Amino acid sequence: MALAFTAISLCACSAPKKESGRDFDPPIMGWSSWNHFHTEISEDIIVGQADALIRLGLSDAGYKYVNIDDGFTDGRGEDGRIRIDTVKFPNGMKAVADSIHARGLKAGMYSDAGDNTCASLNVKPYGLGVGLYGHEYEDCKMMFDEWGYDFFKVDNCGGRHLDLDEKSQFTKIAEAIAACDNKNVNFNVCRWVFPGTWVIDIADSWRTTHDIWVNWETLKTIIKENMYLVAYTGNGHYNDMDMLEIGMGFTPAEERTHMACWCIQSSPLVVGCDLNNMPDYSIEFLKNPDLIAMDQDRLGIAAPVVQKEGETYVMVKDMEQFNGPKRAVVVANLGEETTSITVDVAALGFKGNVKVYDCFKHEFRPELGESFTLEIAPHDSEAFYVTGKRLEQSVYQAEAAFMNAYTEINEQDYESYRRPYEIPSPRVRESASSEMGYYVTELGGWAENWLEWRNVYSEKGGKYVLSLRYACPESRNVSVSVNGQDVSVLSLNSGDELEWKDANVSVKLSKGWNTVRLSNPMEKMPSFDCMTVKKM
Ligand code: GAL
Repeated sequence: MALAFTAISLCACSAPKKESGRDFDPPIMGWSSWNHFHTEISEDIIVGQADALIRLGLSDAGYKYVNIDDGFTDGRGEDGRIRIDTVKFPNGMKAVADSIHARGLKAGMYSDAGDNTCASLNVKPYGLGVGLYGHEYEDCKMMFDEWGYDFFKVDNCGGRHLDLDEKSQFTKIAEAIAACDNKNVNFNVCRWVFPGTWVIDIADSWRTTHDIWVNWETLKTIIKENMYLVAYTGNGHYNDMDMLEIGMGFTPAEERTHMACWCIQSSPLVVGCDLNNMPDYSIEFLKNPDLIAMDQDRLGIAAPVVQKEGETYVMVKDMEQFNGPKRAVVVANLGEETTSITVDVAALGFKGNVKVYDCFKHEFRPELGESFTLEIAPHDSEAFYVTGKRLEQSVYQAEAAFMNAYTEINEQDYESYRRPYEIPSPRVRESASSEMGYYVTELGGWAENWLEWRNVYSEKGGKYVLSLRYACPESRNVSVSVNGQDVSVLSLNSGDELEWKDANVSVKLSKGWNTVRLSNPMEKMPSFDCMTVKKM
């Protein structure tokens, strides 16, 4: 399990700790049994898929984890130990991990934060009583020290029906993993929504949505949701957009979008299909070295939206070096019409001419200039590396900021499972009236409910004006601080919920990275769309 680290800092300053020589691990890459095989798994199937990873060249491309999902158990014995389904796994689970390791791969395990796993709900009662609840330490010791597994996905079906407090139960599980002798367990929380910023402290990755399946609307929902969770990925902790459904029936255009969006957001890349039965073009998409490099980039960050036209979104992130000359760009047409979009090089963070390398064609585009035009078919995407001279970023979207009290547990979860949260937490809302399609609301009212842009860059430092785009139907206050120093308290009133106005604050920014915080511990703040930063 990687080190806990709430603050997404922008410099990777500590000494390298990982085999790779990096400060932190990139998102995991591998295969998982769930999406194709569901509970119909066995030792032969798992080892057969491990062999296919090698045969298809996927392991050489970086796909190393072979993750066993739900369906290997057969209840819990009187001695308290999980019973293995011996028809499917006659040699037990250690033998499977040993076979995977013998192939130079890594092995992944599955359980639940509560008493039952999800398959107990609607398949066969394989999963009754086999969850971690009440057995956290013994189960972890068995899976990681005795059997030697390297990855752990922990679901929450059993936790949900017991109405467990997610934060405390998943934290207890993280502590049980940390108590094992095996110190290389990669921990994934599967809570189907962004659970809260606490998850960054305890997990290497966390699911952000309900299950993916071969359905365009589902894919689109996952992509759009992750566009505004970008502040929570960083320092070896990643939003997990769920398994890849590549090779399972999407069109080639949709698979391009699927792979490109997972990679620009630094999501784990875990293939969900039957590797012995997939189209050749899907294998090529999965092995695309330029996209894999985008996903596994040493900065390990996610990409906010910087330009939007209708349902076509331009996402961009730094690669290799913060504020360096190379950036990764994905332009995704999530709409139903072919779109012609002129990508503005300044919106990508560059001054003047740029070099544009096409990550699908593996060649440079001829265009060089202040903009370039793309025709993109519905559901399709383009992916590029762009290099050039950088501009200071001027627009910072509110939905791309770090919201300390952000959680989706009480909003987008199953209707039937709404917790009565008394404490307000921020909301990200979609609206055509806001710049990149989203704005944030419900901030303030208690000390922890603040918003922070942690990546405000100034090349030389100096005097700037921050323009905050806000809306509120009555007078509300917000404190603005820069690098921990209070600079102003603004009293704002735009007259309506979605009537956007700008409020200016003069500040001094330091050379390099700055943090701008908006807070009001006593009362609700206005809604915010974005902040524009201008040098005086
Ligand atoms: C779901 C989870 C899936 C899979 C399944 C197993 O809750 O989101 O990815 O693990 O449970 O039953």
